[in-house]
Amino acid sequence: MDTGVHVVILAAGKGTRMKSPLPKVLHPICGRPLLAWVVDQALSLGPAGITLVVAEDADAVVEVAREAARDVPLSVAVQTQQRGTGDAMRAAAASFGANPDTPDRVVVLYGDMPLLTPGSLTGLVEAQAQAGPGGMALLTAVVDDATGYGRVLRGADGAFQRIVEHKDASDAEREVCEINLGLYAFSSVTLAADLPRLSNDNVQGEFYLTDLCGMAAEAGRGVEVRSLQDPEEGLGINDMTQLAEAQRVLQGRINAEHMRNGVRIDDPATAYIQHGVTIGAGTHILPCCVIAAGVVIGSGCEVGPFSQLRPGTVLEDGAEIGNFTECKNTVMGAGAKAKHLTYLGDTHVGAKANIGAGTIFANYDGKTKHKTQVGERAFIGSGTIVVAPNTIPAGVTTGAGAVVTRGAKIEAGETWIGLPARKHASSKDEK
Ligand code: UD1
Ligand code: CA
Repeated sequence: MDTGVHVVILAAGKGTRMKSPLPKVLHPICGRPLLAWVVDQALSLGPAGITLVVAEDADAVVEVAREAARDVPLSVAVQTQQRGTGDAMRAAAASFGANPDTPDRVVVLYGDMPLLTPGSLTGLVEAQAQAGPGGMALLTAVVDDATGYGRVLRGADGAFQRIVEHKDASDAEREVCEINLGLYAFSSVTLAADLPRLSNDNVQGEFYLTDLCGMAAEAGRGVEVRSLQDPEEGLGINDMTQLAEAQRVLQGRINAEHMRNGVRIDDPATAYIQHGVTIGAGTHILPCCVIAAGVVIGSGCEVGPFSQLRPGTVLEDGAEIGNFTECKNTVMGAGAKAKHLTYLGDTHVGAKANIGAGTIFANYDGKTKHKTQVGERAFIGSGTIVVAPNTIPAGVTTGAGAVVTRGAKIEAGETWIGLPARKHASSKDEK
């Protein structure tokens, strides 16, 4: 009986080339850690469980993986010394090896490869099913520069033979441009039987997981090789340049999905829309905007150019945020506008309110953040400063340059002007 897939994510590598105090797999890409993108890949296979292999002291890494794994059981295997990918798999084996409930197949992913698509991974699992009893499958890519990678060696008939690591390869073998990506689907029974047979008799003195592929071929078991149609999917993150490259690709995918949903994006190359943003159809995003993870934007809104929507921003239908305007933890009601040079922090703006150019909601007193409410159809004059906490009721007008001090007692429909702002004598009659 087919009991599905167990996924192992290898993430115990040191990541020294990042030259960063942050663990490699915690570097954010489009607003979420690299590892969370990989856990998503695992989830796309509908796994029965996930094992994460980490080095010691990786609590923060484990926490990110647990959150991303949602309700799929996640086991953690600690690899105390980084003695190679085969050794890392041995550390993981305890979580699936002797367990009779282990799914039939074990898929290996790398914690630093965020671009693989569900289609490619499903292809890998299907290939393993075609490999016959105890067979395996691996993903490869054909690249121009294979330096550093394991090479896929084939016989004269094209049949897979084994993988040779760059450092162990002869000059002739280094000419091969089909590389091993390090992603495999194994039969769990065969994997558990073969792992103890790995040796570290090689140039690097490491236990190579790749040797399992050669063992399978030698034993006459099926080895199915699938090559990525788009080698870009196989990009692994080792340094800051590759991190930026991966972000560019994932940003492109995020923006493409919004456009498929009817969002108009003038310049996708400068639309920095992080993961997990909701945008309604008919909304227009102008150039050079930064929109944080979790922001919610309704339909028919306009954002930009040069706007920043930070966490906690909600734009209701038809709201407009214009140039050099920043929102943080702010709700803009339906049809409300703040079009120029404005800071909206911890603010709730009612429907159809107009926030004039250069308005600042001063939310921070040096110690704590405070909230401001602006009622429906309020008209905040250019250059107004509202010191929080404050409540500007519906229909209120402030004059240009007004400074509304903390906790002002303002009633609906009044006009307030000056510094500090006071009620304009005949304000109610004026309306
Ligand atoms: C490995 C493959 C190589 C392939 C390359 C693709 C082996 C022996 N070689 O190279 O054929 O072309 O991946 O990128 O498998 N890791 C651990 N513990 C370890 C070592 C590595 O968890 O002791 C993890 C790393 O965090 C990373 C992954 O395994 O996610 C790959 O490690 P890396 O050192 O980049 O791969 P290589 O062994 O050089
Ligand atoms: Ca290595």
